[in-house]
Order: sequence, then C-alpha cells, then structure tokens
Amino acid sequence: MSAGRRKPYHVLVEMIFKTATFADLDAITLYGLLKLRMDVFIVEQDCAYLDLDGRDTEPTTRHLWFEQDHEPLAYLRILDDGTAARIGRVVTAKQARGNGLAGELLTAALVAIGRRAVALNAQAHLTAFYTRYGFAPSGPEFLEDGIPHVPMLRPATP
Ligand SMILES: CC(C)(COP(=O)(O)OP(=O)(O)OC[C@H]1O[C@@H](n2cnc3c(N)ncnc32)[C@H](O)[C@@H]1OP(=O)(O)O)[C@@H](O)C(=O)NCCC(=O)NCCS
Repeated sequence: MSAGRRKPYHVLVEMIFKTATFADLDAITLYGLLKLRMDVFIVEQDCAYLDLDGRDTEPTTRHLWFEQDHEPLAYLRILDDGTAARIGRVVTAKQARGNGLAGELLTAALVAIGRRAVALNAQAHLTAFYTRYGFAPSGPEFLEDGIPHVPMLRPATP
C-alpha cells in the first residue's frame, strides 16, 4: 500500500493497473485517457488550457492508469526532463476519488523511476499530499493557467 491512509481494499482489487508508451496505446484506450484528463482538468476545473502539449508521444514518456471495465478511472504520466523525471496530469475520475488510486499510481511511478530525481508542479492545495511521497517544495508558488501551483522535487536517492 502507498504512503496515504489505508483505503478500501475491494476498490483496488477491482481495478486493473496498466502502463504503456504512446506507441503501445490503442485508439480506444488513448481516447479514454484523454477524455479523463479533459473531463477533469478542462471541464471540472473550468480551465481552458492546451492539455495536448506534444509530450505524450515522446518515446520516453510512460502512461500509467487504473481502469475498470475498460474505463480509465485514474491516470498520470511520467516525462523525461533530462536532469529529472517529471510526473504530471495526476487525475482521478470524480466518482473514483478517495480510494487511494492516485496514491497507488504515484507509488508505481516512483518505483518505475527508481533513484532519479523527480519533479512535479502540484496544485497548491495538494502539496501535503505529495509530501507524503517524498516531495518537497522547490520554489515559490506560481500561477499556471490561472491555477496556483507549487514546484516540488523528490531528490535523487544515492
Ligand atoms: C487530487 C486527486 C488526483 C486525488 O485522487 P484520489 O485518487 O482521490 O487520491 P487518493 O485517494 O490517493 O488520495 C487522496 C488524497 O488527496 C488529497 N486531496 C484530494 N483532494 C484534496 C483537496 N481538495 N484538498 C486537499 N487535499 C486533497 C488528500 O491528501 C487525500 O488524502 P486523504 O484521503 O488521506 O485525506 C483527485 O482529487 C483529482 O483528480 N483532482 C482533480 C485534478 C487535480 O487537481 N489533480 C492534481 C494535479 S497536481
């Protein structure tokens, strides 16, 4: 189990964990993942921003998600920023929140990344959540697409 509080086990056992490069994603899965991101980051958070930033297709990018009945319910991506890995687009569908899914994806991402440093830009109200996974603020709060964010870093481990 991840660093978050313990969550109902039955929710996790019904979920299928998946990870893929862009090239390995079939069209229906890609549609589902992008729909989840757009439902939450653009519609729910009422933020007109360019979610399709071109980085999903980079060969080093990894997409991680939980799905149930072929519907993606939680997602994040890992980018390679050179000096550090970068976790982004952390999202859980509204109806699936509070079950530990984002925490489990973060844990899986950190295992996949290994000893490298990891950066992320946290929505400001979520800094305590990311702190549980070894991240610490690495700079001043800033506005990205009108939403307050805090840059956070999890240092490389020797
Ligand atoms: C943030 C988000 C990904 C969490 O997904 P989740 O699967 O419910 O996460 P988990 O169940 O693993 O952990 C929940 C934790 O998130 C944090 N959290 C979620 N919503 C929060 C909020 N509004 N304010 C503060 N903390 C919050 C809490 O630390 C919570 O832990 P707790 O349940 O022990 O209190 C989900 O709420 C979401 O998709 N939000 C909208 C998109 C977003 O803001 N993404 C983050 C971009 S940095």
